[in-house]
Amino acid sequence: MFWNKINPKKLFSQEILDYQVKTKKLGLINYVNLDNAATTPPLLGVENGVKKYLTGYGSVHRGAGTKSKISTDIYERSRNVIKKFVNSKIDDYVIFCGNTTGGINTAAYFFSFLAGKIMVSSVEHSSSWLPWIKTEGVKLLGEKQNTLSEMEKINNQIQKLGRSQVIQYDVNKNFEFDLPDIERELKENKIKVVVLTASSNITGYCPDIKSVGKLAHKYGAYFLVDACQFLQHHKIDMQEMGIDFLIASGHKFYAPYGGGFLIGPKKFLDEFLPYQIGGGNLPYITEQGEFFRYKNQMAHDPGTPNAVGAVAMMYAIEVMEKLGLKNIEKFERKLSERLFDYLSKNPKIQLYVRKEHLSTVLPFNIKGKNPIEVAEKLNSDYGIGVRAGSFCVYQVVRKLLKITDEKDIIKSIKCGESEKVPALVRASISLCNNEQDIDRIIAALEKLTK
Ligand SMILES: Cc1ncc(COP(=O)(O)O)c(C=O)c1O
Repeated sequence: MFWNKINPKKLFSQEILDYQVKTKKLGLINYVNLDNAATTPPLLGVENGVKKYLTGYGSVHRGAGTKSKISTDIYERSRNVIKKFVNSKIDDYVIFCGNTTGGINTAAYFFSFLAGKIMVSSVEHSSSWLPWIKTEGVKLLGEKQNTLSEMEKINNQIQKLGRSQVIQYDVNKNFEFDLPDIERELKENKIKVVVLTASSNITGYCPDIKSVGKLAHKYGAYFLVDACQFLQHHKIDMQEMGIDFLIASGHKFYAPYGGGFLIGPKKFLDEFLPYQIGGGNLPYITEQGEFFRYKNQMAHDPGTPNAVGAVAMMYAIEVMEKLGLKNIEKFERKLSERLFDYLSKNPKIQLYVRKEHLSTVLPFNIKGKNPIEVAEKLNSDYGIGVRAGSFCVYQVVRKLLKITDEKDIIKSIKCGESEKVPALVRASISLCNNEQDIDRIIAALEKLTK
């Protein structure tokens, strides 16, 4: 089963494709991974690339030996491959970080030194919202030194101060952004950076990146895009879309080796001390402890880097480019539509994505059933891995479930319980899936809704 050039059987190792689990209803059976928006398995090309890299692995940026030189060359090449893949500007820096969370915390640190507020969308994952609140709050708190016993109070103050600096722009009743709403906020506030997720991790909705970027620039703000649910499915062109900063996680595009990246302009990044400092990212320290700075991307590469994470992303990009993003999109679309059609026709299922927003994520609930239990049953009885929860985007889940009163939720959280936290079931598709996977979840949902 494959469309275009894409045959999942050739893209992943046999061990991954034939991973078996014991189930209550179906006995020993091949596992179906429909939790790809959380993380993706490594492509065979990535596994092989990493294996080869490790045979010549040596200290990156440090040693004089052959392995060191080879490892450094390949590591540095991965920055260029990433840059080309997203068509960043020639002098943009690729800063490696563990994941999107790390990338956004890094960016938030830099921006906290600049005047102005931050605009984030209401569909942002908490990792592209909370780092801004924390870093802005810490900055506004000032230099006062505190005792350990005061920290609880200080933490609350940080949150409060930080929240006053971060404005959220919301979706309309169709779960889309209205550009005039964004423009109004930009007009009324001095915004230093507009943050946008390129594709929602709950509904798959892909906003008009280019138009939001244009507005940000019109009002003198930088434009930062969280592409971690996007760039494995669709083409990102930083220059064409007007993106100043781009962030993604390798584990979401078939390179789960702890790598992620933040791309940003040299002119901006050269002005700052690095987010993390230590060894390797500065040329010299004087007797008095004064340290000198590099004016290149090495300044933002502290310590011995996760070279495997970085090169794994390069190998994943090479495979995706060979397949062609358009082909990937087409392949995944067929599978998504197959599942969408079933979910939208089953009267016992509430589907939370509109056809026009359909990407590779399908959020749903079985009416009257606890989503956490549904996800558990799909796994234990049918060998299907999905996720249930709020997916770190509580705003969207509250809206989808029409929850307006949070009192009970807050009360139960304060008692250490989590059952009241609103939840959906999410099935998400990637290159590792095929038609049989979709048929397996449809058959399981048929049983669960009988
Ligand atoms: C849209 C979006 N942004 C950010 C993140 C955080 O990514 P990571 O866990 O790799 O830091 C996720 C993870 O699910 C996500 O879906």
